[in-house]
Amino acid sequence: MNASDGEMAPAVRSILDAARAGVYETTRTTDIGGELAPLSDPEKYVDRDGDRFQVKERVKRLISFERHDLIRDRRKSGFQLVFCRNLLIYIDSEYKESVFDTVTGAVEPGGYFVVGMTESLPRDLRASFETVDKRRRIYRKE
Ligand SMILES: C[S@@+](CC[C@H](N)C(=O)[O-])C[C@H]1O[C@@H](n2cnc3c(N)ncnc32)[C@H](O)[C@@H]1O
Repeated sequence: MNASDGEMAPAVRSILDAARAGVYETTRTTDIGGELAPLSDPEKYVDRDGDRFQVKERVKRLISFERHDLIRDRRKSGFQLVFCRNLLIYIDSEYKESVFDTVTGAVEPGGYFVVGMTESLPRDLRASFETVDKRRRIYRKE
């Protein structure tokens, strides 16, 4: 737990704890085995016990889990890969543009940006991103 976790609402803390635990069950979500199938060696990253998948410690050590409000908190930068899947449907229209600026601004030049399969880049941002995979909505910052 981070020092700042102590100031959080219990619900937020428990969400972060669940994320840090890194346990996924096929019965509660998608076919995880199928999602991992393209990897030549998924056992390098997860331990599998039937329908239960546990992300390995050495993978989790690379990840910092924290609460970040894209409307209220300070902008971040310098990311090589940003996933922003199915977020904007939750954002009121008055904040959409600034949230999009915030998340795309966090991607460093040459880095990748991924949105949900039913979403797309706003027209005014298309000039600064090259489409890598149109169907999967993967873009690369120029
Ligand atoms: C439909 S879920 C998508 C979750 C995940 N990205 C996915 O594709 O499965 C929408 C997410 O947006 C997050 N969200 C909503 N408002 C936010 C905000 N102001 N700042 C950061 N995240 C926000 C919610 O917490 C929720 O996890």
